[in-house]
Amino acid sequence: MIEILEKLSETFSKRQSPPLVFLHSFGCRQNVSDGESTVGLLVKAGCGVTDTPDNADIIIYNTCAVRENAEKHVYGVLGELTHIKERNPDVIIGVCGCMVKQKHVAEFIKKTYRHVDFLFGNNAETLPDILLEILDKRTFMMNINEPDIIPEREFIQRKSKIFADVPIMYGCNNFCTYCIVPYVRGRERSRSPHDIIEEIKALSKDNIKEIMLLGQNANSYSSDNVDFAELLLKINDIDGDFRVRFMSPHPKDMGSDVLQAIAQSEKICKHIHLPLQSGSNRILEAMNRRYTKEKFLETADKARSLMPGLSISTDIIVGFPNETAEDFEDTLDVVKTIGFTNIFTFIYSKRSGTKAAEIIDLTPKDEKTARMTRLLSLQNEISTKIMADFVGKTVKVLIEEQKDGILFGKSEHSIGVKTPGDPGEVGTFKDVKITGAKRSELYGEIVNS
Ligand code: 5AD
Ligand code: SF4
Repeated sequence: MIEILEKLSETFSKRQSPPLVFLHSFGCRQNVSDGESTVGLLVKAGCGVTDTPDNADIIIYNTCAVRENAEKHVYGVLGELTHIKERNPDVIIGVCGCMVKQKHVAEFIKKTYRHVDFLFGNNAETLPDILLEILDKRTFMMNINEPDIIPEREFIQRKSKIFADVPIMYGCNNFCTYCIVPYVRGRERSRSPHDIIEEIKALSKDNIKEIMLLGQNANSYSSDNVDFAELLLKINDIDGDFRVRFMSPHPKDMGSDVLQAIAQSEKICKHIHLPLQSGSNRILEAMNRRYTKEKFLETADKARSLMPGLSISTDIIVGFPNETAEDFEDTLDVVKTIGFTNIFTFIYSKRSGTKAAEIIDLTPKDEKTARMTRLLSLQNEISTKIMADFVGKTVKVLIEEQKDGILFGKSEHSIGVKTPGDPGEVGTFKDVKITGAKRSELYGEIVNS
């Protein structure tokens, strides 16, 4: 890698000024993290970074394929780039990420958006070679058949001085029938515990305050005889004043050992994002989720008995093909029973190549929208009550920013909290006594300093 970066740097050094790169990532945290690696490599090769495509020499859009809307949005953005290319024909435009890993999409972009110069997938290390070729020959380049590797993480360009994402595993073996991820991100592979721990030790030394462990199935982590529960315990033992989150675990792998590890590790936030997807056993089976409504409720119960006050958030898909009114009632029932702090809701989106895309879906679109409205209104009630229950309690908040005398940060439950304070508090933990609550935000006063 170093060798190719040196070659790239030599090519760049022939220019009058270092090339500026603009990269934008759509989609999940893993995708954003891949983007940080891509920019990191280019910076290592001598590029500068810009936050607008207008003055960039290299423009990269790192795309998401999880839903059709995300893809449509990218097509819109790519269309607009024709103006930039007309103004500056030397600009190099690339598209990468999950969307491009689908062969039919890559071919479509190549054919339709002639101003796009290169395509690659999810692996930043593919890019330097591609760029060298383009700079040399000025031809279209495409490499979307990357092997399932564990990328090196030597050069990462992080935006935040407070938060850092640390991938622990890549890919997915689960093949949920609605999901494109296993097709685009390949099979599961876990980083070595040694590499993960060294990266976190370095982040702790750099005064990073919150670390997000990333994995498409974080809790099926397994490497060098270390499983996810053991990894959490090892991370908890690292010196430093930081807290740890992880996303996303799969309910089927959320065993007692993982829950125990979270419970006994003071650095691990007492907040679990546990994707439910549906509360109906019939739909869960059609989704190939490999747990039942009862099992999910039992896991949540177990977690809460070990960790009173634990907050749980979730993802829910509304309108999976042929979801009936009765199936949907089961989802509402789980939402009511568990009392999620927060839910992320999605209307099912057909992804070509997945198992579910073959099902002939008879549920009308209006019906799906109506179900979504009901779900959101139920969750509004639940969130409002959960938030009101915080009034009078003290929560530990990591302060992220200050504006007009007001500090903003998040509690370990991932709830936004506002409190008066000075800019010097940004990047520190503060105990905040909650005095007021809205549906999605808490207000209070700092009680320690
Ligand atoms: N349609 C709608 N939502 C989806 N998700 C994944 N695939 C689809 C799809 N085809 C949702 C799931 C997942 C979240 C990241 O995106 O809820 O947990
Ligand atoms: Fe992330 Fe999935 Fe979107 Fe890829 S398709 S960016 S893995 S959410």
